Amino acid sequence: MLPPISLFGERFGPIRYLMAPMAGISDIVFRSLIREMGAQAVVSELLSAEGLVRGGEKTRDMMRFDESERPVGIQIFGSSIASMTEAAKIVQAEGADFVDINFGCPVKKVVCDGAGAAWLKEPQKLGELLTSMKQALRIPLTIKIRTGWDESSINAAEVVKVAAECGVSWVAIHGRTRAQGYSGLADWELIRQVAVKSPIPIIGNGDIITADQAIHRIDQGYAHAVMVGRGALKNPWIFQQILGQNPDFDFVQLVNRHFDLAIQHRGKFRAFLSLKKFLAWYATGYQGASAFRQSIFSSEDIEVLRGRALEFFAQVNFRPKSDDGQPFLMGGHG
Ligand SMILES: Cc1cc2nc3c(=O)[nH]c(=O)nc-3n(C[C@H](O)[C@H](O)[C@H](O)COP(=O)(O)O)c2cc1C
Repeated sequence: MLPPISLFGERFGPIRYLMAPMAGISDIVFRSLIREMGAQAVVSELLSAEGLVRGGEKTRDMMRFDESERPVGIQIFGSSIASMTEAAKIVQAEGADFVDINFGCPVKKVVCDGAGAAWLKEPQKLGELLTSMKQALRIPLTIKIRTGWDESSINAAEVVKVAAECGVSWVAIHGRTRAQGYSGLADWELIRQVAVKSPIPIIGNGDIITADQAIHRIDQGYAHAVMVGRGALKNPWIFQQILGQNPDFDFVQLVNRHFDLAIQHRGKFRAFLSLKKFLAWYATGYQGASAFRQSIFSSEDIEVLRGRALEFFAQVNFRPKSDDGQPFLMGGHG
C-alpha cells in the first residue's frame, strides 16, 4: 500500500478519497453535500483563468466555496502562462487550500485553444507554466492530467517527473488518453506503474463506482489516493461506504439536504434550476424514473419540485447501480 496524502498535516488528516471535479456538478452546493457525505477533499469544476483575470462576475461566483468544504481546491484552465499565474494568485487570495490545474480536458474548443490536455503535448512548456505558478503561490499547487494525448504519446510518467521537479504537491491521473475521451476503460496498470515510482503522491481516477473498487485500488497499491466522479452521482453514499460508516441510504434525507444547501448557497430560483438535473440523475434506473423526470421538468417552482421529489424518493430503496451497464455522463472536462 502506498502512503496517503499528508499535505495538510494535522489540519485535515491523511487523504485517500477525493471527489473528482466535474463541470456543471462540482459547484459549492454539491461539494458541500459530498464533503458532509465523507469525501476527504473536494475540487471545484474548471474555471477559466482568463475569466478570473478579467474579473468576470460569473467566474468569480464559481470560485466561491464554503468553510465546511475545506480542504477545497479551485481548478483553473487556460493557455497563457501569464493569465494562469495571475489567476492562481486570485484563487490564493480567495483563501482556497490549493490551486489545481486542469491538464486533462479533452474538449475540442479547449484544446484547440492550447488549454486542458493540450499542455500534455509539450511537457517542457508545461514545466515553465508550473514554475511560474509555483513562484507566485504560498498554497500548494496540484494538477490533474490524462495518461497522455493519444495512444502513441502516453507520457504521464514524464509529466509527473516534471511536476515533481517544479514542486507540485500531487498529480491526479484520469487513466485515459485525451484521444479516448470517455471510451474504453481507465488504465489502472499504467496509473500503478507511475505511482510506485513517483516522488509525489498520485491520485488514481477513472471508473470507480463501488466502495469495494476504491478500497481495492488503495489496498493493492495502485495509487496514494483515489478520486471518484460519476460514481458519486450514481451513489452519493459511496464515500461513507468506503470509510465503513454504514450509511442509511435515506433518499428523502439526501434530497432534503441537497435542497437546503442549494437554497442557502444559490437562492431559490437558481437552486430550482440546478436541482432538476441532480434529481434526474439520482432517479436514474429506478421504477417510475421517466414519469418522475417529466414531472420534474414541468414543476413551476422549487416548492412544487421538492414535494414531487420527496414523494418519488419516499418509495425508492437505494440499490447499487454498479452493474447496470448503462453509459452515464460519457463526456466532460477532464
Ligand atoms: C460531466 C463531467 C464534467 C467534468 N468536468 C471536469 C472538470 O471540470 N475538471 C476536471 O479535471 N475533470 C472533469 N471531469 C472528469 C472527471 O473529473 C473524471 O476525471 C472522469 O469523470 C473520470 O472519473 P470517473 O469515472 O470517476 O467519473 C468531468 C467529467 C464529467 C463526467
